[in-house]
Amino acid sequence: MCSCRAGFERDCREEFGQRALARGMTSLPGASTPGAGFIVIGAADSETDEKLLRVLREPWPVFARQSMLAHAWLPGLPAHDRVSAILATAAEMRQCVSEVWVETADAEATRPLMPLCRGLEYHLRTALAKGGLLRHDAALPRLHVFLATSTSAYLGHADPRHSSPWPMGIPRLRMPRAAPSRSVLKLEEALRVFLTEEERHRSLRPGMLAVDLGAAPGGWSWLLARHGMRVIAVDNGRLAEAVLATGQVEHRREDGFAFRPRRRVDWMVCDIVEQPSRVAQRVSRWFARSWCRQAIFNLKLPMKRRYEAVMQARAVIERAMSGRKFELQFRQLYHDREEVTGFYRDLQG
Ligand SMILES: C[S@@+](CC[C@H](N)C(=O)[O-])C[C@H]1O[C@@H](n2cnc3c(N)ncnc32)[C@H](O)[C@@H]1O
Repeated sequence: MCSCRAGFERDCREEFGQRALARGMTSLPGASTPGAGFIVIGAADSETDEKLLRVLREPWPVFARQSMLAHAWLPGLPAHDRVSAILATAAEMRQCVSEVWVETADAEATRPLMPLCRGLEYHLRTALAKGGLLRHDAALPRLHVFLATSTSAYLGHADPRHSSPWPMGIPRLRMPRAAPSRSVLKLEEALRVFLTEEERHRSLRPGMLAVDLGAAPGGWSWLLARHGMRVIAVDNGRLAEAVLATGQVEHRREDGFAFRPRRRVDWMVCDIVEQPSRVAQRVSRWFARSWCRQAIFNLKLPMKRRYEAVMQARAVIERAMSGRKFELQFRQLYHDREEVTGFYRDLQG
């Protein structure tokens, strides 16, 4: 069971369908409702369970925010005592867990269930701890309860190494007061999703040089400057005062598709609103010519065939980089709307 951005259920399913095909699974039955914010996919038989897990895991899917292996569907939870019904099923599973999360979809119909999730989570945690089923051991799976409605839920497990570290896959980030635009949160989330804490410490350091293509009003440049970096911000539009006031951002009123750096930079970030194929062409040139060590770039998706657009962009970059060692990931972040975020890292050394 996977949660995703509401309206992207079909893309999420298509992605798993393609991955399943690539692993020799002919069909991947399942269900999804447009706008529900989650999908359920099923293994045709128990033998395919292992394959299904692999489909879920490597690499992390583009459109799934959170995922779990659902073991039970509880359609008729009594409104006066949901906890007992959930506990009874959890006990049948005979599995110690490291945590219990009660989640729901990030969709219009289910958002009002959030307070219920918090209440249930508290009671379940207390009861599981009393019953000796809750142990502080990071190697144990997490118990997930996913409320589809106020009286129905999926119950399952997730491996913390292969699922989002945030309930519902939503990082709770605070908007810094001085930030010039909300898009700061998008880059902040990308840095947390694609880099470990240790990698962030190592690769976001004072004195490093970054190029920000499509920078205005300057949220991303501002965030990079906050890490002590010098930033070349490329955009014909105006930068906010707070960005220029850092003293670390040089504004170039140039075309981001024509700009090239004088020397190799530590980071290239790109948030230009353009066709994904055009952005992919341009960033692949940056990667192929080793103009940057790492990059974060946004792809604005078309209305239809969105998964296909991501795969085409990936193919453009892979073609340009054939024979080279690099890492490339795409994820639809919580702060992304009709877009996905790409992460590139040069592994050539
Ligand atoms: C979504 S905004 C970027 C927001 C920015 N990341 C921030 O944090 O404030 C897209 C920007 O791309 C710029 N843009 C569009 N086409 C461009 C091009 N060819 N070269 C440079 N900038 C371009 C626009 O002027 C606009 O400011």
